[in-house]
Amino acid sequence: MAQLEAHVLITGGTGQVGIELLRADWPAHLRLHAPGRSQLGLNDAQALERYFAATPFAAVINSAAHTAVDKAEDEAADAFAANAMIPALLADATRVAGIPLIHISTDYVSDGSKGEAYVETDPVAPLGVYGASKLAGEIAVLAGNPQSVVLRTAWVFSAHRTNFVKTMLRIGAQNSSLKVVNDQFGCPTSAADIASVLKAITMRFLEDTPAPTGLYHFVNAGDANWHQFAQAIFEATGDISTPDVIGISTAEYPTRATRPRNSRLSSAKLTDSFGITPRHWSEALLEVIAELKQGKI
Ligand SMILES: NC(=O)c1ccc[n+]([C@@H]2O[C@H](COP(=O)([O-])OP(=O)(O)OC[C@H]3O[C@@H](n4cnc5c(N)ncnc54)[C@H](OP(=O)(O)O)[C@@H]3O)[C@@H](O)[C@H]2O)c1
Repeated sequence: MAQLEAHVLITGGTGQVGIELLRADWPAHLRLHAPGRSQLGLNDAQALERYFAATPFAAVINSAAHTAVDKAEDEAADAFAANAMIPALLADATRVAGIPLIHISTDYVSDGSKGEAYVETDPVAPLGVYGASKLAGEIAVLAGNPQSVVLRTAWVFSAHRTNFVKTMLRIGAQNSSLKVVNDQFGCPTSAADIASVLKAITMRFLEDTPAPTGLYHFVNAGDANWHQFAQAIFEATGDISTPDVIGISTAEYPTRATRPRNSRLSSAKLTDSFGITPRHWSEALLEVIAELKQGKI
């Protein structure tokens, strides 16, 4: 017998993760809804209420966010509206509807002072507005809906929008050498892999109630500093003439927002709870480079 149709709301459908969520291979009975900003104001509680009243959603995945880390320092109100208020409103709406909310957060909730990969129980202490606003969103989601998962991830790359991979390739095409920070460590993570994890978590909620809830980390396996990541990006292109990538310190590359020196995350809890084992970021990077080369996007 065919399964009954189930509706899933995806916010941020035009973002790196949102695009991959919409491209993912979902079961045929799922109907994905990804309204743009002009179709649904996520900051408008009444609009959300009407939207939820019109469709019996089975789950919501929130991938909408103000992700410009430096800009957020000067746009705190916008950052908190997107990263804290929208998650709080979605938590309310999904709790009232009795459905799960799967929300994405960031490694930048930490101050980077830990010497090894962060686990979910480590203290948080954001260094900037972006991290503080995302932390407020995490708290709102976990407090606002008992059926929620907050998935922290990091250093997201894909063939879409703006990200470090695309920036390096663009700047590298225009310069014979470039300087990249070598004293900030993290876990490059593919938007497609994040989408695949979000899909798996959503399916657990839809198929297997009660599903695990709470805070989880997901990053691709392996880590890097930005300099190592840049070198890997140029190597992955397979081109003979790539720029020299020169390592510099954070002090030599001042930015508006302070970033954590170490924001590596451990995905061990996610592996234990959901049976998901991340692949290495370098494998995912090859796919993104191939996609960029094919000009698919
Ligand atoms: N990018 C990273 O390196 C990184 C690292 C760690 C965690 N994360 C987290 O991962 C998640 C996905 O990030 P991403 O890289 O896919 O983001 P992204 O590419 O910057 O896309 C952000 C999405 O959010 C939407 N959006 C932003 N503000 C909005 C608002 N006020 N109302 C409605 N929609 C709004 C954007 O819509 P428009 O197209 O209309 O602008 C876009 O669809 C976020 O929660 C982010 O905090 C990202």
